[in-house]
Order: sequence, then C-alpha cells, then structure tokens
Amino acid sequence: MSRGYFITFEGLDGSGKTTQLRRLAAWLEAEGHTVVTLRQPGGTALGDRVRSILLDSRSEATLGPIAPLAEMALMFADRAQAIHEIILPALDAGTIVLCDRYTDSSEAYQGAGRELGSERILAMHRSVCDNLQPDLTLLLLPSLESSLYRARRRNQRATQQKGTDENRFEREGDTFYRRIYTAYEAIAARDPHRVATIRDDASIEQIGERIREIVASRLPAQAARA
Ligand code: TMP
Repeated sequence: MSRGYFITFEGLDGSGKTTQLRRLAAWLEAEGHTVVTLRQPGGTALGDRVRSILLDSRSEATLGPIAPLAEMALMFADRAQAIHEIILPALDAGTIVLCDRYTDSSEAYQGAGRELGSERILAMHRSVCDNLQPDLTLLLLPSLESSLYRARRRNQRATQQKGTDENRFEREGDTFYRRIYTAYEAIAARDPHRVATIRDDASIEQIGERIREIVASRLPAQAARA
C-alpha cells in the first residue's frame, strides 16, 4: 500500500505557522500533489467540540476550572479521532497530510506549560496514538516576544470583530510561554532528523521559501500527485 507523507507545523501562538501551512498547501497543490490539511484541536466533528471546550475562555464559567490532566486527555481524545478519521486514511491513500499542531504541542503546552512532564505525554502518545510520528515537523520559533505580541493582538481583534474568544491559553503569563519555548527547543534538539526549526523573524515570503526548500528536499519521489 502506498504511504503518503505526514508534515506537522509547530510553534507558539502567533508564530505564523497557520499562514505558512496554508501557503505550503497551495504550493504543493500547484505542484500537483494531493494534500489534506487539518488543525489540532479540531478537524473532526468531535475535535471541533473539544476545541470549543478547551480554547474558549468562557468554558470555565460553566464547567469550572479544567484540570491539567483533563486538558491533556481531551487533547489526546481529539488527536485519536483525527488519526482514525482523517490522518491514517489519507496517508494510506498516499496523500500529503499537513497538520497544524500535533503531539509536540501537548508536550510543550501540557508537559512543560502545565508542568505535567514530557514522559506522561510521550506515554499517552504511545498508547493513544500508536506512536504515529510525523515524517517532518516544521517548528517556527521566532522570538518569544514577537510571537506573544502577535497572538495577543490577533485575539483581541477576533474577540472585538467576531465575538469569538479563543484565548484560554493566550491569557497565560509570560513564564508559561517561556517554559513552552524551552520545551520546543528541547524537542528539536532531541529529534533533529524529524524537526526542522526556523528561528527567523524574517518575512512571510522568506520563511515560506525556506519551508518549500526543506519540504522539496525531503518529500519522497512517490508522494502522490493528483
Ligand atoms: P491554535 O489553533 O491557534 O494554534 O491554538 C491552539 C491552542 O491550543 C494553542 O494555544 C495551543 C493549544 N494546544 C495545547 O495546549 N495542546 C495541544 O496538544 C494542542 C494541539 C494545542
């Protein structure tokens, strides 16, 4: 059975990963590849429910404070559903899958940010995700300050314009994000073959170009074309 290629995007909120994922998807499609994109949490009907519980800062007004372990387990419930419903079928069909966040986010946010520890996250990944690893992870790691500034500005705008509120994480303080930043650096150092780190605060175009070079050099010749 032909197998596709699994790429994840990682980084802090406001690192520009979602923009870059969209640009890469458009480029790959223009090159004739079949591409499936999704984000975590979300992407499936179950995942969208999980997303609204976990990200909406108003959730806790009705549900009460969400325990860190419950938060972690919900992230993995979302991921297990996405793997079953979208990721594995797409890879089995030879498709390129681009996923906006994956288990590295759980390791960085719940493992380090919430201080649950990496080992607990990695054990959960082995058991709930059958240890399914991306072929390539693009980690966007511009400076912590510029990421936080962009994320908070974007959230304020979204809340004012659309009434949507996805800032349960963004309201965390700088120390929380410093732990996440350090955890991402540790993941990249531990797994240099999988994780390509882009540290620049360069322009969207320049970073896009760099990402295309990395992907073009790594994509197997057999990756499906439409
Ligand atoms: P985003 O879709 O804008 O990247 O937001 C998703 C938020 O959820 C972001 O603040 C990171 C957080 N998150 C975790 O804490 N753990 C996870 O496993 C995932 C996938 C996301």
